[in-house]
Amino acid sequence: MSGTFVRVCGLSELEEDTPKRVELDGTPISVVHTEGEVFAINDICSHANVSLSEGEVDDCHIECWLHGSRFDLRSGKPDSLPATRPVPVYPVKIEGDDVLVSLSQES
Ligand code: FES
Repeated sequence: MSGTFVRVCGLSELEEDTPKRVELDGTPISVVHTEGEVFAINDICSHANVSLSEGEVDDCHIECWLHGSRFDLRSGKPDSLPATRPVPVYPVKIEGDDVLVSLSQES
């Protein structure tokens, strides 16, 4: 169902800089409202099976709480070791209070 946007939560449910974990078709996603935008990034760190939504958000990055790699919410790329592989990011649309995410990775 790539390209199909599906509602994952309400915009008003998101606290600024506090990731929210949701699931879409069995895919865990961390939804983050920061710097006036909403981002959706796969919730599993590319280094080990750890939930990124338990980490901190700063400067448009989400930090893995276990070893501290920081992933760019726009690209999914890590900017610090030990992670070397990007985490998938997903396009987001806002419609009223609805946050919609598409599992397609083309933004
Ligand atoms: S598990 Fe995320 S950086 Fe190691």
